[in-house]
Amino acid sequence: MIVPTQTMQANSTNSPIGEVPKHVAIIMDGNGRWAKSRGLPRAEGHRQGTENLRHIIRACVEFGVEILTIYAFSTENWRRPPLEVRLLMTILETVIDRELKELDENGVQIRHLGRLDQIAPILQKKIKYACDFTNHNSRLILNVAFNYGGRDEIVQAVRRIVREGIPEDQITEDLLNRYLYTGGLPDPDLIIRTSGELRVSNFLIWQGAYSEYYATPTYWPDFDKNELRKAIAEYNQRTRRFGKTDEQLDKED
Ligand code: FPP
Repeated sequence: MIVPTQTMQANSTNSPIGEVPKHVAIIMDGNGRWAKSRGLPRAEGHRQGTENLRHIIRACVEFGVEILTIYAFSTENWRRPPLEVRLLMTILETVIDRELKELDENGVQIRHLGRLDQIAPILQKKIKYACDFTNHNSRLILNVAFNYGGRDEIVQAVRRIVREGIPEDQITEDLLNRYLYTGGLPDPDLIIRTSGELRVSNFLIWQGAYSEYYATPTYWPDFDKNELRKAIAEYNQRTRRFGKTDEQLDKED
């Protein structure tokens, strides 16, 4: 069973964290600038970014986040220099090889969001294996958006719907939702973007329709547990209206 949404007290400063969003999604941006600001190669930024991901996964488990979705490689990232593309592929391979056992032991279920077809067969196999191997877990669902693009996700969903001959009058938002890579999962409550950019960059464009967005200038390798706590605290200050008026929301309380 998934750990229920809860009010957490325990963290390093012992400050109350408030209501924990069920589904947190992160655009992990700024590895390159983090490295550049230190006179280091971009690869070092990605290495530190990967290390940071381990800490954030741990913090999510500790805080009681049920679903964490990370944007690890976008369909647009193929335009990067070939060496960097190769590095990002290798990072995922290495993460699977090195971390799978520990992730499994900590109850993390890995899911892949995105297209497998353009990825090298050996990595495809590893991704599928990691998903199957952790399928029984339910403490934290870790959606790894890798070779993912929100527009492409919608195109793929529509293609499947057409292929399956679903009649026009059965095509609803609910149905389309089920055909997305995130089918069956609740939409993200909170979408975080690091490194100061204020763009959605084709990430969860359908699912993020009512998500709360949080942007921080902090580069991804420096986005630590305390920064996550700050993002959740800000999320708790927001009133989620879902299109309703204040009066309607008051009545629901
Ligand atoms: C953005 O930094 C980050 C990425 C393109 C993704 C890389 C993510 C990691 C290394 C974390 C773990 C990855 C996996 C595969 C599990 P950037 O290069 O866009 O930084 P910049 O905008 O400062 O150049």
